[in-house]
Amino acid sequence: MFLEVRKKFFDFFKERDHAIVPSSSLVPTDPSVLFTTAGMQQFKRYYTGELNAEKDFGLKNAVSIQKCVRTSDIDEVGDETHLTFFEMMGNFSFGGYWKEDAIRWGYEFLTERLHIDPQRIHVSVFEGDANTPKDEESFRIWHNIMGLPKEKIAFGNRADNFWGPTGSEGPCGPTTEIYVDNIEVWNIVFNEYYAVTKNVEPQNHFEYKKLETPGVDTGMGFERLLCMPEGKKSVYETSAFKPLIDMLTQEAPEASTRDIRILADHIRAGVFMIADGITPSNKDAGYVLRRILRKIIGLKMKNDIHTDPFALGAGVISKQYGPLYAEIRSPKSVIHVWQEESEKFGTSIQRGLLEVSRIVEKEKKITGTDAFHLYESFGLPFELLREVVEDDVYSKISKSEFDEAFRKHQKTSRAGAGKKFGGHGLLLDTGELKAGSEEELKRVIRMHTATHLLHRALRKTLEESVQQMGSDITPERLRFDFNFDRRLTNEEIAAIQQDVQEIIQRDLPVYFKEMSKEEAEESGALHFFKEKYPDIVKVYYIGTEGAVVSAEFCNGPHVQNTGEIGTFKIIKQESLGKNTKRIRAIIE
Ligand code: ALA
Repeated sequence: MFLEVRKKFFDFFKERDHAIVPSSSLVPTDPSVLFTTAGMQQFKRYYTGELNAEKDFGLKNAVSIQKCVRTSDIDEVGDETHLTFFEMMGNFSFGGYWKEDAIRWGYEFLTERLHIDPQRIHVSVFEGDANTPKDEESFRIWHNIMGLPKEKIAFGNRADNFWGPTGSEGPCGPTTEIYVDNIEVWNIVFNEYYAVTKNVEPQNHFEYKKLETPGVDTGMGFERLLCMPEGKKSVYETSAFKPLIDMLTQEAPEASTRDIRILADHIRAGVFMIADGITPSNKDAGYVLRRILRKIIGLKMKNDIHTDPFALGAGVISKQYGPLYAEIRSPKSVIHVWQEESEKFGTSIQRGLLEVSRIVEKEKKITGTDAFHLYESFGLPFELLREVVEDDVYSKISKSEFDEAFRKHQKTSRAGAGKKFGGHGLLLDTGELKAGSEEELKRVIRMHTATHLLHRALRKTLEESVQQMGSDITPERLRFDFNFDRRLTNEEIAAIQQDVQEIIQRDLPVYFKEMSKEEAEESGALHFFKEKYPDIVKVYYIGTEGAVVSAEFCNGPHVQNTGEIGTFKIIKQESLGKNTKRIRAIIE
């Protein structure tokens, strides 16, 4: 019924003067949202009158099946109904029809075209609150015109029966929702308002203005809908998923239903995201994609899948959806992005998994702090732990302890080359940084960033050829060795200290990017000839984009902003020989 239901939907609304509009990209033009999450997003400017539907589509109304990604329920994926990538069917009116037609057509499509028994249906309407009134009209239409008994019409609050805006502003309004067997199937939104973000806290942070011409926006999850005519309980059992699930079950016959479903969902999401130009990175949509791909890698390892489920999945998806979406007709470049990413993370994650088994074997549990180290040293995301340890071990990992250790540290990381972990009771031992408690961890992190600033100040004050020869950080002090052939004067020391302090006071952001070693070397980021670097390195930056004051190859961790460092003081200089000098410094 995969194609049949789609066709029925388009036909039904075409007969009712709707123009069929293709799905827009998963990457929205609105910078305040990461992904396209609803069919109406591409139409925002038609509701405001900025654009004219009649002019652009030849009709006042539109119908679409839109590619969407929603990640708010990503942890629920694998149950019966949750998905990250899905398709949303929707009909839209921009000043054409209004509540009565929208409700009637929704109801008729379900009962007359898909033959859903009206007994299985109930609906909800908006109960109203201090900001926008109760939707009496929808209640009246459902009851008086459509003939639904009162007990089948529930009133819902803002959380359930008011929709939008997407991003920081946009059309929004009360909704009426159609449920089949208590499952929400169709959300019909009456866009009566235009909301803009107010600059004042909190409660309701939007300001609502009446739209000049109200509009209709509806959304119905295609996969969820498909369950009805196909008589399935789970979206994963429908024809939308069958080819992919069949392939995965064959490749991983031992995997649990949940794992198979997560793989199916994530592969689909990954394929469609990459096809729309998203690439894995450390921020925004790229970061979501990276998490999704890492999860696939984790599940592939956990379930001993020796083939490439993503590449195979991309083939299956391309065959099934290619006729509907040109961008996935040839999945080669999509697979290439996946392969690059999985090569990059495969090795480090594998090492992390070994470490996980070692810890579990020895300790019979994993603490939140262990989890942080696995993350920090091996790039093993917290959520991946759920996939690789038994449930009883997972349930005892303290997320708050993890968060504490993580602090506000960058949201993603990869393996730290040369980092050591475990065996000697230290919380952190990277060779350079050593800390035994949370308190100490905070101090050494502050000092670590100060070390980068010191390095920069030495080069600036003395000469560019100054290079780091060694660095050692304990909670008490930092120690920095560098090549220089004479003692520093008091003035020079004062100037260096002053330079570091100035950058601290500017409270500049500290962040990192990952790149290939070659790219990093070419960028001029500081690195040390003594050290052997992996193919992919992290470069830590201090400053704002375009006005960076420091760039160094480094695995972190660092503070988020230089202001966190406090007061920096050089307490001593020593000579380690003719060409090497040492500075000891503290922070207060
Ligand atoms: N825009 C509405 C939704 O996404 C229909 O639920």
